[in-house]
Amino acid sequence: MRALVVYESLWGNTEAVARAIAEQLGQSMEVEIVDADAAARSTDGFDLVVVGGPTHAFSMSRPSTRQNAVDQHGAPHAPRRGIREWLHELEPTRGTLAATFDTRVDKPRLPGSAARAAKQELRSLGFEIVMKQESFRVHDYGGPLLDGETERAAEWARTIANAALATGR
Ligand SMILES: Cc1cc2nc3c(=O)[nH]c(=O)nc-3n(C[C@H](O)[C@H](O)[C@H](O)COP(=O)(O)O)c2cc1C
Repeated sequence: MRALVVYESLWGNTEAVARAIAEQLGQSMEVEIVDADAAARSTDGFDLVVVGGPTHAFSMSRPSTRQNAVDQHGAPHAPRRGIREWLHELEPTRGTLAATFDTRVDKPRLPGSAARAAKQELRSLGFEIVMKQESFRVHDYGGPLLDGETERAAEWARTIANAALATGR
């Protein structure tokens, strides 16, 4: 089985979660990890795709929220293409397995999730969601991640690998 992990990250928090997920998936399958800015428009050849990005303004980031992150919040860079743009250009598929995650600030009252929005896009492209989406928490816009989040990400990835392998593909 081959897995692709696609992430977007301004400060590196989502990237750290993505790397923990990729490392865990790598225990039981072949894994590639790529920034959404450099990801191909097709996921042909992959059985499982895991997509993650930061929650911005209750959903996936946009060019304006990424620019705002740089201008107002000191983000080191704004990716030209985030997971929203990548998903909009992505080729449809037939039943490729998928799961999504996001990072968000540690404030339970804030609604919205990039992972939920990304999941809906993937579904409409024909992906089969293999595991409920997950959110990982950062202390402030720039992070860092809360203690234990990369371990929790690895555990989430383990359940995805088990579910994906159980499909017998
Ligand atoms: C413009 C902007 C809007 C944001 N909106 C939200 C939000 O609606 N909900 C939330 O939980 N976090 C929000 N955040 C915090 C981000 O989720 C946080 O910066 C991200 O998890 C950091 O991950 P990264 O280092 O991978 O970019 C926002 C951050 C920025 C810069």
